[in-house]
Amino acid sequence: FKDGDLKNQKIVITAGPTIEPLDPVRYMTNFSSGKMGYALAEEAKKRGGEVVLITGPTNIEPPTGIKLVKINTTREMLSAVEAEFDDCQVLIKAAAPLDYRPNEVSNSKIKKNNDVLEMKFIKNPDIAKHFGEMKKSQIMVGFAAETENIIEYAKGKMERKNFDFIVANDVLKEGAGFKADTNIVTIIDRGGEVENYPLMEKNKLANIILDKVVELLIKS
Ligand code: PMT
Repeated sequence: FKDGDLKNQKIVITAGPTIEPLDPVRYMTNFSSGKMGYALAEEAKKRGGEVVLITGPTNIEPPTGIKLVKINTTREMLSAVEAEFDDCQVLIKAAAPLDYRPNEVSNSKIKKNNDVLEMKFIKNPDIAKHFGEMKKSQIMVGFAAETENIIEYAKGKMERKNFDFIVANDVLKEGAGFKADTNIVTIIDRGGEVENYPLMEKNKLANIILDKVVELLIKS
């Protein structure tokens, strides 16, 4: 890759989990550490991009020289992307937003009176799908965290959410997906190309993803 090949490009990256409160002292979330999204932000910045990193709670030191937007819930992540979307050239959705939230958030601490606790959950908005429907010239990159039928499910997600390409990780593989410093992925694009990548550092993978973004920006 070339230094500065993302100059003058506004790149919005989502990272990390979202969290959804259950009551004043509890919340639900998932195992996303934010490492994949932060690696993308760091490398995009090094390549000259104007980077906006929209992130759920993580323990990672953010890269300097970028705009950092901290959110908690999936709906907050949607609003934060909304505020940045119109004038961006690239949206990369590396976050793992919670698909459901509790139907009601209890105002007081839920008591452990019953052996079985039943709760109802309602669907959160699908951020990627929403912006996939709205996009004009933006390049959109999605991720898919799968445990089976990886290629088939990832292709379906790419089409439904209108991604230009999708990065699928088998989250059951050692060294892939959530929490690790490394990832093992398959990248699938709209032309039907399917490329398998070996285990590598998330920063190295970030540059492979950004190379593909640059190729698409040149074509557009
Ligand atoms: O954060 P790390 O620990 O480094 O882990 C990285 C990762 C495994 C979280 C990352 O590589 C990854 O795969 N992110 C996507 C996880 C996910 O939510 O996958 P999904 O298959 O449920 O969603 C597909 C796509 O839609 C994703 O781009 C996701 O960001 C997006 N999505 C999902 C749900 C939702 N409500 N809104 C969304 O925009």
